[in-house]
Amino acid sequence: MPTRRHFLIATGAAGLTAALPRLAHAAPQPRTKAVPSTDLRIPVIGMGSWLTFDIGDDAAAQAGRNEVLKTFFAMGGGLIDSSPMYGTSEDVIGRGLAALGQPPGLISATKVWTPGKDHGIRQMEASRRKWGIDRFEVMQIHNLLGWEGHLETLKAWRAEGRVRQIGITTSHGRRHDDLAEIMDREPIDFVQLTYNIADREAEDHLLPLARERGIAVIVNRPFQRGALIDHFQGRPLPPFAGDMGAKNWAQVLLKFIVSHPAVTCAIPATTRVDHMKENMGAAFGPMPDEEMRRRLVGYVESL
Ligand SMILES: NC(=O)c1ccc[n+]([C@@H]2O[C@H](COP(=O)([O-])OP(=O)(O)OC[C@H]3O[C@@H](n4cnc5c(N)ncnc54)[C@H](OP(=O)(O)O)[C@@H]3O)[C@@H](O)[C@H]2O)c1
Repeated sequence: MPTRRHFLIATGAAGLTAALPRLAHAAPQPRTKAVPSTDLRIPVIGMGSWLTFDIGDDAAAQAGRNEVLKTFFAMGGGLIDSSPMYGTSEDVIGRGLAALGQPPGLISATKVWTPGKDHGIRQMEASRRKWGIDRFEVMQIHNLLGWEGHLETLKAWRAEGRVRQIGITTSHGRRHDDLAEIMDREPIDFVQLTYNIADREAEDHLLPLARERGIAVIVNRPFQRGALIDHFQGRPLPPFAGDMGAKNWAQVLLKFIVSHPAVTCAIPATTRVDHMKENMGAAFGPMPDEEMRRRLVGYVESL
């Protein structure tokens, strides 16, 4: 769990603690949400790693990603999402975690991405070694690929304690009907799907279904791979942005997502420390209520 120390390091306030013990004691914590099927609580902003962490063996780039990770954990971040599909991202995450001394706040989430059940087992073991961890907190089946076989493995592994929670992912609105069927009848802990202010299809069926079935929701593509930020940057923030605790468009977009009652966390991806600070900042302060969420949709549609 994030600590007061995390926030102080991130805000550069660590040196003030001795002089200002009372103020430091009141330092805010990132907002968290509960996973309905377990006792785990997750900070509402996590981190994605597709493209942004696929940097191979480039030592200078690795040092930059280590700083991004350091900022993430310093601000109380928890869930990191990856996949064997993301090239060298899992190796880079593993090296970063080792450089940071295996941060205790890590909530490790990766995926199995292969049609074959046996190959899936070898792939998940390889991922665990890359991350340098004993077990994954969340193991997901990437884009439903070979899901029947992997789900058998994962249900057994969860029962044995080899993974803590299991899930299935999709994105870009793909195969929502198939995902809904799986959510209806299989005992999964997580789904991962695309949901953002410009793509709200999940509101119709999948998000209500997740609530009904007690399934935690990880939201991918919160910025549509950056396109949403590019679109809104330079346009005025909503006049009520301050009421929802948002100082920039990244925070407006992220707070819209994580304030949906069914959403557990969003996983924006970034290569930059300043962007990580903005993104993690969305886990702090007030969140839009239902009425403000409606106004927000109206506002962005008017731009
Ligand atoms: N099927 C699946 O399971 C699936 C599919 C898609 C994605 N995912 C997961 O979801 C994660 C997120 O989705 P995504 O990678 O498509 O993209 P995203 O998070 O929607 O957008 C990432 C882009 O936004 C930019 N960005 C981040 N923070 C910013 C900020 N504060 N201000 C301005 N620009 C900012 C980044 O550029 P900078 O580097 O310059 O910050 C990057 O280019 C993935 O990394 C992956 O882990 C899963």
